[in-house]
Amino acid sequence: MTPHFQPVALHHASRLINHGPTVLVTSAHGAARNIMAAAWSMPVEFTPPRIAVVIDKQTWTRELVMASGAFGLCVPGAALTDLTYAVGSASGRAGDKFAQHGLTPTRGPVLGVPLLEDGCAAWLECRLIPEPHTERAYDTCFAEVVAAAADARIFADGHWSFREDNAALQTIHHLGAGNFVRAGGMWRAQPPTA
Ligand SMILES: Cc1cc2nc3c(=O)[nH]c(=O)nc-3n(C[C@H](O)[C@H](O)[C@H](O)COP(=O)(O)O)c2cc1C
Repeated sequence: MTPHFQPVALHHASRLINHGPTVLVTSAHGAARNIMAAAWSMPVEFTPPRIAVVIDKQTWTRELVMASGAFGLCVPGAALTDLTYAVGSASGRAGDKFAQHGLTPTRGPVLGVPLLEDGCAAWLECRLIPEPHTERAYDTCFAEVVAAAADARIFADGHWSFREDNAALQTIHHLGAGNFVRAGGMWRAQPPTA
């Protein structure tokens, strides 16, 4: 783990994607490894924490995920916007996107999934939940989160903190056609009055 990354308690893992950031789906099987962008992911269960992510059946990622039964969701910061768009615009079948973009992944602590930390705000290591009918019919994949970590400069003690000094790590949200908006402008609701 890189110096700023700290483990995130599993009961807080859903918060890492609760606000709908575009993520990087990382995967590996045998000697092959891959990374793609995904705008569509969300928490779906509390305990154990489970998530859903749409991984098109046509993608190389999908093939690797089905073969290995595991994947990572890495949450890129704004500084990785161009990279996110690039790995979402080309297939790893044409060559190793980690090597093409000079990315050095770390290994997930539970499943050994490649995970990107440099420039990312967080990652979740996920074990695919086998769902033969869903897998045949839909692009949606369900998984259990088995480990999570975040850069403590932007997520600590179970909470995001979007500030002026961590803009490069703030999460990005795809509006379509290569347009993104960066998370920020954080404020807290007043406690409800009875
Ligand atoms: C910003 C962005 C968001 C994307 N979101 C998704 C998504 O949620 N699900 C999906 O299947 N593909 C999504 N894609 C497309 C894949 O990232 C794209 O098909 C990728 O080239 C697949 O790579 P692979 O064949 O190496 O797995 C997105 C692309 C971009 C640029």
